[in-house]
Amino acid sequence: MKILLVTGESLPYAKSGGLGDFIYSYGKALAKLGEDVSVIMPLYLPMRTKFPEIMEGFYDQFDFKMSWRTQGCGVFMVERDGIKFYFTAMDRFDRDQLYGYGDDTERFACFVMAVNTFITRHNDYDVVHCNDWQTAMLPLLLSYNPKPIKTVLTIHNPAYQGWAKRDDLGAYFNLSTGYYDSGFVRLGDSFNYLKAGIMSADKINTVSVTHAQELLNDHTGFGGIGAIIDWCRHYDFSGIVNGLDTDIWDPKTDTHIVCNYDLATVKEGKKKNKRAIFEQLGMDPDFDGPLFSAITRLSAQKGVERIIDIMPHLEEKNAKMIVIGTGEMEEQFQAEAFKYKNVYLVKRYDEELAHLLYAASDFFLMPSYFEPCGTSQLISMRYGTLPIVSNVGGLNDTVFDVSKGEEANGFTFYNNDYFGCLNAYFRACDLYWAKGIDRMQEVGMKGDYSWKKSAKAYLDLYHTIDWK
Ligand code: GLC
Repeated sequence: MKILLVTGESLPYAKSGGLGDFIYSYGKALAKLGEDVSVIMPLYLPMRTKFPEIMEGFYDQFDFKMSWRTQGCGVFMVERDGIKFYFTAMDRFDRDQLYGYGDDTERFACFVMAVNTFITRHNDYDVVHCNDWQTAMLPLLLSYNPKPIKTVLTIHNPAYQGWAKRDDLGAYFNLSTGYYDSGFVRLGDSFNYLKAGIMSADKINTVSVTHAQELLNDHTGFGGIGAIIDWCRHYDFSGIVNGLDTDIWDPKTDTHIVCNYDLATVKEGKKKNKRAIFEQLGMDPDFDGPLFSAITRLSAQKGVERIIDIMPHLEEKNAKMIVIGTGEMEEQFQAEAFKYKNVYLVKRYDEELAHLLYAASDFFLMPSYFEPCGTSQLISMRYGTLPIVSNVGGLNDTVFDVSKGEEANGFTFYNNDYFGCLNAYFRACDLYWAKGIDRMQEVGMKGDYSWKKSAKAYLDLYHTIDWK
C-alpha cells in the first residue's frame, strides 16, 4: 500500500511532543512491514541548517491559490530509515518554533493547501493519514480529488482543535461558507478544523482504547468534540495504542546513559546511572534511597499540581525527585521546588539527560489529567523504572497497579485525586524499602511495547475502508 503520513512534526527533524515520536516510529514500523511509506511536513527554519541534506534534495515546486493570493511552495525530499520524507518550504514556516504564533490557523491552512496540491500532482497514494488539527482540513479538500483516496485522521490531542473564522473557509481553502452555515465545520462560534476532519475522514481514531471511550463518554469536555464523534462518527471511530521506538529506547544499547544494562544487571546498572546523574547535577552521589522523576511539559494537562503535592513528603521517606520540564507552569513549579532540598528541577529540554534520568530513576511520575496515549510510561517500564500514573487514556491501557497481581507493572490512581496520588506515592516508597519492586520491574522490562501489533492494527483499519 502507498501511504502518506501528513503531520506538523516528526523526529528526527522537528518535535514538540509525542506526535513527533509517533510519526517517526510508526513510519519505520510500516517500512519494516514492507509498506511504501512517505511523510510530508513543513520545513521549519532551524532544519535548513541542522539538516543540510534536506536542502540538497530539491524535488518539486508549484503555486496554488488561497482565494486571491498566489502562494509558492518548494518541496524537498530525503530518504531515511525506509521512509520518504517530503518537506514543504514556504515563507510562513521560516520561523524558529513549530507552533504558538498568532497566525497558526493560516499557516497550517497554507500547509494543508500545499499538501493537497502535492497529492494532486503525484496522484498515486492509496491512503492519506492525517494527524491532529494542523492537518485535519485535508480529508475535506481531498473529497474533491478526481481520484478517490482513503483518508484517516488520528487525534493525538483533542485539546488543540484549530479555531478559525467562517470567512476563512473561502479566504484560506477556496470553500463555500455553506460548510459553516450548515454546521458541518462549525463548533460553537468557530470554524473548527478538527471537527471538519472528524466529519470528513473515512476513519477516525485516537491513540488508546481508553481515550476513545473517554471521548465518546464526555460530551462537554474539549469544546464538545466528543459529542460530535459520538453522534456523527461513532462507528468509524476507534482506539489504537501507540508503540514505542525500541531502536532509540533500549537500556542495553542506549549511548546516552553511563552504564548499559538488561534485566539481569538492572540493579547494578541503575546504581551507576543514579550516581552519574547525581554527580552531574551536583547532588549527593552516595544517596541510595528511591529516586522519583518526571520528564514533562509543565502544564495543567500533565497534572503538575500532583507532583507538587508529593514534594513535602520526600524527606520523611528518604526520597529524592528530579524533574526535567518546561512549559506554562514552570515558574509556579520552580517556586515550589525551591522550598525542598530533595527536589531538583532541570528547566530546559535536555534529550541526553532525559535518557540518563529514565535509567537512573526508581519511579516515574505521570499524574496526567488526560493522556491520549503517553510515551514516557512505556520508556520507564523498559528501563526498569516503575510508573506512577493516573488511570486515564493510554496510561490505563498500559500500566497495571501493584494490586493486580501477576500483570502488575506500576502504580495507578484515579485521575486528579490528591489522596489517590499521595497514596500511590507512599505505597511505592514502602514497597521500595521492603525490597518488593523486583517482580514488577521484571514485568515492565519484559513487556512488548514495540509497534508490531499496533502497526498491523492501522493497516487493518486502512483495509476496512471501502474502495470508493
Ligand atoms: C499527544 C498526546 C500523548 C500521545 C502523543 C502521541 O502528545 O498528549 O498522550 O502519546 O500525542 O500520540
